[in-house]
Formats: sequence, C-alpha cells, structure tokens
Amino acid sequence: MESSMCLSSAILSLCLSCMWLGVLPYISSAQTDTIKPGEELQFSEKLLVSAKGTFTLGFFSLESGSYLGIWYTTDDYNKKVWVANRDKPVSGTDANLTLDADGKLMITHSGGGPIVLNSNQAAGNSIATLLDSGDFVLEEFNSDGSVKEKLWESFDNPTDTLLPGMKLGINLKTGRNWSLASWISEQVPAPGTFTLEWNDTQLGMKRRGGAYWSSGTLKDRSFEFIPWLTYPDTLNNIYSFNSVSNANEIYFSYSVPDGVVSEWVLTSEGGLFDTSRPIFVLDDQCDGIKENPGCAVQNPPTCRTRKDGFMKQSVILSGSPSSINVNLSLGLSDCQAICWNNCSCTAYNSIYNNGTGCRFWTTKFAQALKDDSNQEELYVLSSPRVTGSSWWIWVIIAGVVLLVLLLTGSLYYSRRKFRGEREMEEAALLELTTSNSFGDSEDVDHDGKRGAHDLVLFSFDSIVAATNNFSSENKLGEGGFGPVYKGKLPEGQEIAVKRLSRGSSQGLVEFKNEIRLIVKLQHMNLVRLLGCCIKGEEKMLIYEFMPNKSLDFFLFDPARRKILDWKRRQNIIEGIAQGLLYLHKYSRLRIIHRDLKASNILLDYDLNPKISDFGMARIFGRNASEANTNRIVGTYGYMPPEYAMEGIFSVKSDVYSFGVLLLEIVSGRKNRSFHHNDGAFAINLAVYAWDLWKEGTSLELVDPMLEDSYSTTQMLRCIHIALLCVQESAADRPTMSAVISMLTNETVPLPNPNLPAFSTHHKVSELDSHKGGLESCSGSVTISETEGR
Ligand SMILES: *[C@@H]1O[C@H](CO)[C@@H](O)[C@H](O)[C@H]1NC(C)=O
Ligand SMILES: *[C@@H]1O[C@H](CO)[C@@H](O)[C@H](O)[C@H]1NC(C)=O
Ligand SMILES: *[C@@H]1O[C@H](CO)[C@@H](O)[C@H](O)[C@H]1NC(C)=O
Ligand SMILES: *[C@@H]1O[C@H](CO)[C@@H](O)[C@H](O)[C@H]1NC(C)=O
Ligand SMILES: *[C@@H]1O[C@H](CO)[C@@H](O)[C@H](O)[C@H]1NC(C)=O
Ligand SMILES: *[C@@H]1O[C@H](CO)[C@@H](O)[C@H](O)[C@H]1NC(C)=O
Repeated sequence: MESSMCLSSAILSLCLSCMWLGVLPYISSAQTDTIKPGEELQFSEKLLVSAKGTFTLGFFSLESGSYLGIWYTTDDYNKKVWVANRDKPVSGTDANLTLDADGKLMITHSGGGPIVLNSNQAAGNSIATLLDSGDFVLEEFNSDGSVKEKLWESFDNPTDTLLPGMKLGINLKTGRNWSLASWISEQVPAPGTFTLEWNDTQLGMKRRGGAYWSSGTLKDRSFEFIPWLTYPDTLNNIYSFNSVSNANEIYFSYSVPDGVVSEWVLTSEGGLFDTSRPIFVLDDQCDGIKENPGCAVQNPPTCRTRKDGFMKQSVILSGSPSSINVNLSLGLSDCQAICWNNCSCTAYNSIYNNGTGCRFWTTKFAQALKDDSNQEELYVLSSPRVTGSSWWIWVIIAGVVLLVLLLTGSLYYSRRKFRGEREMEEAALLELTTSNSFGDSEDVDHDGKRGAHDLVLFSFDSIVAATNNFSSENKLGEGGFGPVYKGKLPEGQEIAVKRLSRGSSQGLVEFKNEIRLIVKLQHMNLVRLLGCCIKGEEKMLIYEFMPNKSLDFFLFDPARRKILDWKRRQNIIEGIAQGLLYLHKYSRLRIIHRDLKASNILLDYDLNPKISDFGMARIFGRNASEANTNRIVGTYGYMPPEYAMEGIFSVKSDVYSFGVLLLEIVSGRKNRSFHHNDGAFAINLAVYAWDLWKEGTSLELVDPMLEDSYSTTQMLRCIHIALLCVQESAADRPTMSAVISMLTNETVPLPNPNLPAFSTHHKVSELDSHKGGLESCSGSVTISETEGR
C-alpha cells in the first residue's frame, strides 16, 4: 500500500510538473472549418468544425437513411439545428460532401445523382465555411482573397430550428421565405405538419397552412402570448429581439449573450421551445380542447365539445383499425386532426414506429392492465365523464351565483361583505373552465392505473385531508420553494406535498403546462412527481414520499454517516450520475437541474438515491421572485463560477455541482461548512481536494468513517473524477455520459484536472465579498438543510 502510494504520488507530481510547464497531454486533431474546390469529404460524423468549435457539420443516420446536418458541438444529444437533405435521405454510408471545380456544393452518393445545395455557382474560386454562428456559407473570392459575393448559406434554408442571428421572414427581392417547418416525427426530418413564420408584427404557427398559434405583437423584450417573457428581469429571458422591415426584407431575429447555447425548435407536434428554458408553446397546446394564449379559435365539430380530447393510453386492442391512411407525409398531429374531425373516430395512432401514416378506430376500448396481452398504446378520445359530483358542483355554483346576485341586488348596504365571496366563486369557475378534462380530482383514486403519463389534479380538499390540514406534525421541512408536508391518501399511498410559496404571479395555464411536462419525466433515480393541486393562490406539487429523507441527513450526521459504507456511497454516486444523465440527455426537454446538492438527493427504503426538485428551474426560473432569489437560482458552494458570476448555465453547471457533491460524499464533509486556513485565505472543499491531489495525499480527504471499506484505486479514481468536474473552465469539465463511463469502467483513462474553480487567491477573496451579497439578497440561495421528506 505504501509503495503504491509513493508510486502514485510520483506519477502525480510528474503529471503536475507537465501541467505547470503547460505540456498538457492534449492531442488536437486537425479540424478544419472550410471545404475548397475539388475537395471531397468522406462520410463521417465530423466533417467540419467551426473556428471556435461551436458548431459541427457532419453526416448522421436515422432509420430512413443518412443526412448531412449541423449541430452544437457541445450538445450531447446532437439535436440537429439544420439538415441539408431533409427530404432526400441517402442510403448507406457511401456519401461525400463535395465542392467540385465548377463550384457546386453537393452531396454525392452511390444511390443516385448528386444532391446540389447551391443554385448560384462561381467556378474555381469559391469556398464553403462553417461559421461559429452555425451558418454554413459558400462565398466567391476575388483573386486578392477578398470576398466577392455570398453565393449560398444554410441560414437562407432554415429547417426546424432558429438560431441566434438567423432570419425569419421574407426576402422581398428574391421572394424567398425564411420559415421553419417541423420534422414529420422525431425520426423523420422531412417537412411535417407545422410551420413557423414572421409576418412583420408577430410569429405565426400554421398547421398544414391553417392558422394555429400566434405569438401576439412583439414589444421590446417580449411577445404578448408568451407569458413568461413578459416578466421583467428573469434569468431565462436572455433574448434581445430584432425586427426589420424595409424595401428589401421583412424579418425577425434574436440574439443571446456570448457563450449561451440557444436554439428555438419547432417540434413535430406544434411545440416551440429553447433547450432547457421554459417553453414558448407546448406540444398540442392549441389542439382545440384548451383555450390557451395565442391559440387560433377552432370551433369543434358538432359531435365534439371543447372538453373532449385525446389521451395516450394502454388499451386492449380488439380488432383491426377501421381505416388506415398510408400517406407517409402524415405525422401524429395530422392523424389527430383527421380523427377529431371525423365523428365516428374514437382513437388514432401512427402506422409505423417512425411516426408516419395514420390508423383510426371507431370502437371503444378497455384500459389495459400491466399483464394484459394484446395491449397497445393509442391516442384515445376521452370525453369528460358526467359524474354526480361535477354535475353537483355546477348546480351549487349556479345556485350560489344566483344567491349572490339576488343578495347584492336587494341588499345594497351589504355589498362589500359579499365581494370577497364572489371573487372566490370566480376563481372556482376559472379553475373549472381551465381544468383539463383528463385529470380532475376524482381521478386521484385511479392514479396508479393511469400510468402516470398525465397530470393529475388533486383537489384541495383531498390534500387538506391527506396532510391533516397541513398540521405541523406532518411538516417534513422547509425548502427554497416553500414548506413540505407528508400526507396519506385515503387508499394508503404516502405522498409528499410541496406547498409553493404564495404570491406567485405565474398563470394557471402556464403552471399546469410546465407541470405536465415534468410529470412525463420518469427514471428510477428521479423522485416521481404525481401531480399538482391548484386552488386560488395556492399551488402545490405532489410527490411520491421518500422514507429515508435526504442524503445530507445521513452524510453530515456523525452517527448516521456510518450507515453509508463505501458500497452504499458508490451506489448513491452512480444513481445520481444516471439520474442527471437522463435529465441532460435522454429526456426530450434536456433539463438542467441548477440546484443539485445533498439535500436535494432523497433516499428510498433501500437508500437508493432519487434526485428531487428537477424542473424547478423551468417552473420558477422565469420569475425569480417566486424562488425568493433576486438573481440566481441555486445554492452557494455548488454553483460554478460562470453561473455565480455571470448567470451563464449549461449542462456543465450541473456537472460542477455533481463534482462538489462527489467530494462531499467521499469526505463526509459539507462544502459550505468547510474552513481550512491556507495562509490568510479560506478555501473550499474543491481547492482543498486539489491541494491534496497535488501533494499526492488525496486519501487524507476520505471520510475516516469509511475505514477500510474501500479500494484505494477506486477511491483515488473517484476523487480524480470529482476534480475533473469542478474545473474552472466549463469546457474542460466532462459531460455526464463521460463521467459515467469513467466511473463504471476503470480502464477508461482520466485526463489530468486543471485548477478547480475559485482556486486562485484573487478569486476566493472576490467570491467572499460576493458571498455576503448573494446570501443577503436571498434567503433561499442557502436553502435550509432540513428539506427532507
Ligand atoms: C417509415 O417506416 C416505414 C415502414 O418501415 C417505411 O416504409 C417508411 O419509408 C419510413 N419513412 C421514412 C420517411 O423513413
Ligand atoms: C467519396 O470519396 C472517396 C474519396 O475521394 C471516393 O473514393 C468515393 O468514391 C466517393 N464516394 C462517392 C459516393 O462519391
Ligand atoms: C412566402 O410566404 C407568403 C406568405 O406566407 C406566401 O404568400 C408566399 O407564396 C411565400 N413565397 C414563397 C416563395 O414560398
Ligand atoms: C399577422 O398575423 C396576425 C395573427 O394571425 C394578424 O392579426 C396580423 O394582422 C398579421 N399582420 C400582418 C402585418 O399581416
Ligand atoms: C370517418 O372514419 C371512418 C372510420 O375510420 C371512415 O370509415 C370514414 O370513411 C371516415 N369518414 C370520412 C368522411 O372521412
Ligand atoms: C399526403 O399528405 C400531405 C399532407 O397533408 C398532402 O399534402 C399530400 O397531398 C398527401 N399525399 C397523397 C398522395 O395523398
């Protein structure tokens, strides 16, 4: 053991001296951002990389074939911001990107004629370049090397994504429209159901050419019908808008601060969102059953009511579809529209897994249970059930309204007294009319069978009963967003109720839309959100109950810490990493948590970790006052420098917090309470860990409670990975997928970490002066430690 320590410290100091000399073992591959005449770039995922590395251009393959596309280099998910041949996939991988001697920029492939991208050509002296804006431009050059003319650019041929600086509108000179068209489905890039256009005053979304949604007029920094943009000073509203109208062109464009990753994506189901920010338009927002801001009024056919809608359900299939439409240009939203308008249609779905074609049914279905055979997921028409209770509610409301009217009419002098009641009824009415027919409070009882894919609206009364009227015995703790209570539903299920702080100005519809998205996120390392409850000012989130409280409850308690041996801690580390990877990469929303810390890691019966409060940044980030923070959501000590100081966040911000958490788990010490005097300066856990690493004495960091329960190599590797995560520069930090492969595969080599954030003395003192400011402006930046459940 001792000799291996010696060896490892020798290696460490060797590596460190390399680093100090600036000889980083970094091999930069020769990347270029241009293609020149006569060049032929062979099929590869990485053909061109823009000068600063922001964007990558390359080929990618889907079931339907191969495409040439552009994506953010740092985007793990590689969401394509542009596709060259969206409706002309090439088969196989025998394809090249070519700029021939005649100036034709094209995709050549063995399966047919070349796909030429530009119509203007300039023989011999043109060069195509991938810019850091994401634009791919073909320019003609003079013999002196200056640009003569721009011949073609990808920004002139938008697909489904608007990037900062891209135009949306019309070029009056060429008659060309800059508009977005959604993919047919997530698997098929060809133009689909929805388009997004700019008509000089507003953004308009069309569904197969018919008005569907409009943004309302653009005023300064916001659009009328995108509510969260109208709140001042939110961290999420990072946009500057620009609208131009002159004799040559009419267009809209937007910009964001340097370094912020932003892309406005028009989804195949009519949604519009920017990665990891609150949505602009929800999928299906205007599907006729909801009256949401900006939706074009569509009168339902006579056989439908506004409360009807389709819900994805597992049903037992009985018989074949009554009709199919094999038109492969039809996406799911088209099928929905066709079914909605045909009175005999009761359910629909795509024909193929790639989301194209339609199948329709006219029968009624039985809900499938877990073990039923012959079950399938269909979009089934659901009409509101005319049950006794809702019928009675209406009668009671009508009665009360009538009574109030009578009383206010006859008893002039007591008008004031009744005003309060009338307001309450108005709120109740509003709630009923906006509540979505799929999940009224009575559905609570059926929650388990419902498959948790839909938002369940719990009634206020059921929550009052479950939490014993929010009694103090039921209170589990106080989080940054309000108190948390334990509750028990009539059928015995235990729940945790997070009562969100009052006085929020967020709209009901908006709040529910956001929750509806979050409810869909499911992973064994995420706490399950069951639904919500809205009553007047009150907004509550209902979660599954976690019996073992949170990680900090164990980790920072001298007695309970012993329970967490190394094996359990490893399990916790891996679980958190998996949950985070899901949020970053596999959930369609690609959520950045922004407040990852020990008290947000809840533990189940078997001490498996579950991340909680994910999506809170989406729900609250828009209006920071709701999270009681003035500027920055998050917790001091877990925040990376670029976020703490400049408010810039990315998936790498969560990686930083993960690194801090890793060090806490290894050491059993709180980052916040950690004080270690290094001369005159207080330093944090990460810097302390780095100093030990530098000295080759990393194992001094390890929690003494772990005794000999760990393997030295594993432990050193874990600390090493943590140091990679807390590096000062976000670009140097690994992604969560890289972290997981490093954690789970000991043969994956680890690069040397650079200095951790806040490590130089200058920065530490600067941060200390910031720290006072941050904490005083926001009780919740330091969310109390008792936020267990
Ligand atoms: C979708 O899948 C079907 C059946 O596999 C196939 O025929 C069709 O070509 C696919 N569509 C696209 C655009 O790839
Ligand atoms: C792609 O380029 C390579 C190398 O220049 C060439 O051998 C191959 O035939 C090209 N393939 C196509 C389909 O053009
Ligand atoms: C551009 O859009 C306008 C209005 O939507 C439409 O009338 C016109 O035909 C379009 N032009 C082209 C070339 O697509
Ligand atoms: C733009 O679209 C909106 C909504 O569809 C419409 O009310 C408005 O008149 C249009 N403006 C122009 C200039 O066409
Ligand atoms: C309505 O749907 C039924 C069943 O899918 C189909 O047979 C019928 O042709 C449809 N009617 C119209 C007018 O499209
Ligand atoms: C398929 O559907 C698209 C979109 O509705 C339509 O434009 C096209 O004409 C249809 N094709 C056929 C062959 O019916």
